[in-house]
This record gives sequence, C-alpha cells and structure tokens, in this order.
Amino acid sequence: MSQWVEACAVDDVEEEDLIRFDHDGRTFAIYRSPDDEFYATDGLCTHEHVHLADGLVMDHIIECPKHNGRFDYRTGEAKGAPVCVNLRTYPVKVEAGRVLIDLS
Ligand code: FES
Repeated sequence: MSQWVEACAVDDVEEEDLIRFDHDGRTFAIYRSPDDEFYATDGLCTHEHVHLADGLVMDHIIECPKHNGRFDYRTGEAKGAPVCVNLRTYPVKVEAGRVLIDLS
C-alpha cells in the first residue's frame, strides 16, 4: 500500500539542487533535476552515512561531500569508489505545488 508523505513545496528545491527531508526518524534527499523532474533517495551516503544534502548535484549525479562518492539519484546506482552500495530511491509525485514521496 502506498504511503505518500508531503516532503516540501516545489519552490523549496532549486533546479540542479537537493534538500534534506526528515520524517519519522528517517532522513531523505529530495532532488530537482536540470530537466525539472523531482526524485527522492535515502538522505545518507551508503559509505559513511553523511548527509547527501550537503553534497553537490551535477546533472543527474549527487556527489557526496565527504569522499566525493557519486550516485545517480534517478536510480540510486553507485557510480564508483568509494561507494559500492546503491541508494534506495522512492517514488515522487507533484500535486498542487507540493512534492510528495511514497515511503511504503
Ligand atoms: S561518506 Fe560518502 S563517499 Fe564516503
């Protein structure tokens, strides 16, 4: 069963950027791509659990702020050392100017 949760307003996330979203003891990252699509992943790097919201978005890649590990935030795929474990991703939809993610 879906569990849609409102994460932020569309305008809270700039293009080619991301924000941190905390919910129910968990941390997520919400991305807005250069082509104006929204995506969501777990908010902590799978390498040493630092917040990806402090990282850098380049095209469809999030670069971790600690050791520069990279993930494709559309799929969660780890894109090379030192990260080797993929990020979990979550379905996203936009309704009435709000960004919702499915945490089920
Ligand atoms: S903590 Fe993210 S690459 Fe090391």
